[in-house]
Amino acid sequence: VVEELRPRVVSFHFGLPAADLLSRVQAVGAKILASATTLEEALWLEDRGCDVIIAQGLEAGGHRGMFLSSDLSRQIGTFALVRQVVDAVRVPVVAAGGIGDGRGVAAALALGAAGVQIGTAYLLCPESTVSPVHRRELEAATADSTAVTNVQTGRPARGILNRLMREQGPMADDVPEFPFAASVLVSLRQAAESDSRSDFSPLWCGQYPPRRRGMPAAELTRQLAAEALEVMREMAL
Ligand SMILES: Cc1cc2nc3c(=O)[nH]c(=O)nc-3n(C[C@H](O)[C@H](O)[C@H](O)COP(=O)(O)O)c2cc1C
Repeated sequence: VVEELRPRVVSFHFGLPAADLLSRVQAVGAKILASATTLEEALWLEDRGCDVIIAQGLEAGGHRGMFLSSDLSRQIGTFALVRQVVDAVRVPVVAAGGIGDGRGVAAALALGAAGVQIGTAYLLCPESTVSPVHRRELEAATADSTAVTNVQTGRPARGILNRLMREQGPMADDVPEFPFAASVLVSLRQAAESDSRSDFSPLWCGQYPPRRRGMPAAELTRQLAAEALEVMREMAL
């Protein structure tokens, strides 16, 4: 697919593909981005030719990109991770996790990030394809609504607590391997969702839940950039 479409950028999560496959991606001229959740992962990615490293802090919504370690207790917050990665690698670093307004963007840039990757803040945009139950839970979410769980898919990911996470996790030792945990939940999930319940649905969300509802993604992006510039201007005074 990459050789046919020749994208300018290819972004990887959970590490990188085997060296021969990565070389084929590089051969089409695509810049390689990949997520690191620790300093060790960032250095590993740089060694293998990544052009940009996404430093994903523990606040982030969705799957943790962790791939060299499975020890969740030693995962690092965005504030601590970004500047250590920036200091250790020569390639640009993109900050991810818990950034959802202009202050967050400005803070990431102050830590030395070249840019930010924002997921959760866009989940209530009209372009987002989240399910109705997910949308409802996102609208009600607060700072402590989420936890990192492996019971939804088999890999650790941050989402809003639901019945499955409360009763089976949020972390469990005996879950089916990724992504098969999600497959075994399909029927339960569909039955619950048809009754407007989010008991078994993955409700991905970071620790900074979306604040702006219904704003188109492009407008949100422009607003976040304008706010960040304003914050940086104020701080320069
Ligand atoms: C619903 C959702 C789906 C995501 N899917 C992917 C994905 O497919 N690949 C990826 O690299 N990161 C994915 N992420 C993680 C984001 O790239 C990013 O690390 C994270 O959203 C940043 O933290 P934030 O959610 O607090 O903004 C996803 C995040 C969310 C919330």
